[in-house]
Amino acid sequence: MFYNGDEKVVVMDHPLVAHKLSIMRDKNTSVKDFRELVSEIGMLITYEATRDLPLTTHRIETPICEMDAPVLEGKKIAVVPILRAGLGLVDGVLRMVPSARVAHIGMYRDEKTLEPHVYFCKTPKDIAERDIMIVDPMLATVGSADDAISEMKRRGCKHIKLVVLVAAPEGIACIRKSHPDVTIYCGAVDDKLNSNGYIVPGLGDAGDRIFGTK
Ligand code: PRP
Ligand code: URA
Repeated sequence: MFYNGDEKVVVMDHPLVAHKLSIMRDKNTSVKDFRELVSEIGMLITYEATRDLPLTTHRIETPICEMDAPVLEGKKIAVVPILRAGLGLVDGVLRMVPSARVAHIGMYRDEKTLEPHVYFCKTPKDIAERDIMIVDPMLATVGSADDAISEMKRRGCKHIKLVVLVAAPEGIACIRKSHPDVTIYCGAVDDKLNSNGYIVPGLGDAGDRIFGTK
């Protein structure tokens, strides 16, 4: 389903995603379950985010007859987790697209200004030729995703998708303004941000809940 009729913002409209997200939102959910659910929802959103992959055909013989069977054309894809929490989604994406390459981008947040900065970015050499899926569980004030997209564009990437589990309306509006070419895929759009930049109702600090660092 499109968010506010905007074809560039796809919100998962599926009971499995809604159910799994509700378990994740519960503050009593264990680290183990939270981590598994991030991966599972990552897989489900990847299913939607790869809907436009081009197909070709391959001649095969079934037990009954010959046919031109549809197969993926073999588009080159790179999944780009924003460290750290984005790592939780990589496994789910790779289960759907096993041949994708992985490029890591590390961001840290200046504790005073809350501005994110890129401190690490390691990509395959042919990154500019690949379709990019930037993955991060949360799209909040958008600083991290905005910078990650800009960094990928600086490296020549032209086809970029952003995959998140939970987005704030404020975050979506920012990305639509700064990177109108990027399609956003999200598990849910929540109500708002609070004064600390957390998504409400949200699911708390995704990185801490995936890695058990709280
Ligand atoms: C979280 C999350 C996003 C970012 C979202 O990461 O994983 O990267 O916050 O917030 P924003 O839209 O306001 O930038 P965090 O900075 O907590 O780091 P972590 O992944 O290491 O936990
Ligand atoms: N980062 C998180 O991990 N959670 C939020 O709600 C916002 C930013």
